[in-house]
Amino acid sequence: MKAYIWSVPTRVFHMMFAGFIVAAFLSGDEDNLLNIHASLGYVVGVLVIYRIIWGFIGPKYSRFSDFPLRIQELKEFVFNIFDHKKYAGHNPAASFVMISMIGVVFLTVVTGILAYGIQEGRGILGFLNSPYFKEMKLFKEIHEFFSTLLMILIAAHLGGVAFDRLIDKKTDTLGSIVNGHKNIDAPSVTLNWFQKLFSLFALGLAAGVLFYSLFFNSVLTKSQYSAISYAKEHPAFVAECGSCHTLYPPHLLSRESWSKVMDDLQNHFGDDASLDDKTRLSIKEYLLSNSAESSTKESAFYILKSMQENKDIIAITQTPYWKKRHESIDKNIFSSNEIKSKANCKACHKNIESGLIEDTDIKIPRIKETI
Ligand code: HEC
Ligand code: HEC
Repeated sequence: MKAYIWSVPTRVFHMMFAGFIVAAFLSGDEDNLLNIHASLGYVVGVLVIYRIIWGFIGPKYSRFSDFPLRIQELKEFVFNIFDHKKYAGHNPAASFVMISMIGVVFLTVVTGILAYGIQEGRGILGFLNSPYFKEMKLFKEIHEFFSTLLMILIAAHLGGVAFDRLIDKKTDTLGSIVNGHKNIDAPSVTLNWFQKLFSLFALGLAAGVLFYSLFFNSVLTKSQYSAISYAKEHPAFVAECGSCHTLYPPHLLSRESWSKVMDDLQNHFGDDASLDDKTRLSIKEYLLSNSAESSTKESAFYILKSMQENKDIIAITQTPYWKKRHESIDKNIFSSNEIKSKANCKACHKNIESGLIEDTDIKIPRIKETI
């Protein structure tokens, strides 16, 4: 007997869900893929909401009410694992894993959007990146916790499928993932027009969200920070501090650092950068009031945190955070003809002189081979 168990929308959902979750997992650790990661997260979010609704309005085997979620049944199933009762839909063990997965995916997406907003100032919750929330690194950690939990559940899910394949080839559960049919004596499903239309809309929406999020600079991925025109805010700062090197955004050092830099311009990293007192004090004032302490940007937060023990560092490149973030870059790259110095930030950070250090802007220039 063949029975039609998984309808087209259920199978399409399953493939999109699995594929996008794997892609999101792979892109999660790469900073310059953050926007792609977030876009994948939104799609997974749309899909999980679709799946929850589908659990109430979908066909028989997809409904949560069809999941055998009773401990007694789970026990019977596990204790008779080699000769268990046949289930046309999900068996009790699979049902528990499935419900947990849906819950954990939902929480992973929500905490992801929170972390993206609070820490990066991006996405629909970008406005949460305020002084009030900026120290809440917590969401990123919770997000990572849930994504690890999800991987464990996925491993359990795959383990279950593999085990089922070993002990019961006949039913062809694995094949049903692709063709929807199981060799089992059970009623087949049919979809009504509403279920078809709803699925078409929801799965289309998921694909649309991915496309929109990836290719448009929209509210889904946009940073709440816009470029700062330092030339407008403080012309002397640009004229005096941007002439010999990159114009370092004030939020990259502490008040104490800027004070020290500005009080000793005669001995400025081996140069004499001295200014008349009026200009000097005015620039100093500008730097102090825009220092890392007063910024909600992620880089300001981490630089300040890494300076805890040595507050008197006067070079950004000497802060532990800067060193850590750049430790994987070969020394020869910094000393190459194209870059010359670590302090030449703008060689790799395109918009740094507008106060933006976006992951998507980072680009190490190609350097010529030196023999
Ligand atoms: C006469 C040239 C000159 C001027 C003008 C000048 N600097 Fe510098 N500055 C230097 C040199 C040279 C270095 C060392 C760069 C290197 O390590 O390659 C430096 C380094 C720095 C660094 C440390 C960069 C790092 O390694 O993280 C800071 C911060 C800095 N300057 C701030 C300022 C500020 C603020 C002003 C404006 C008041 C200013 N500079 C004006 C020459 C100058
Ligand atoms: C040779 C190229 C290069 C130079 C020069 C350089 N950086 Fe970077 N920077 C990078 C790369 C690459 C990364 C990303 C490293 C990673 O993947 O973690 C990075 C990361 C950062 C980050 C972390 C960004 C984030 O949001 O995760 C900050 C902040 C930063 N750089 C600031 C600076 C400053 C300030 C200077 C100049 C004093 C500078 N960088 C000079 C290449 C460079």
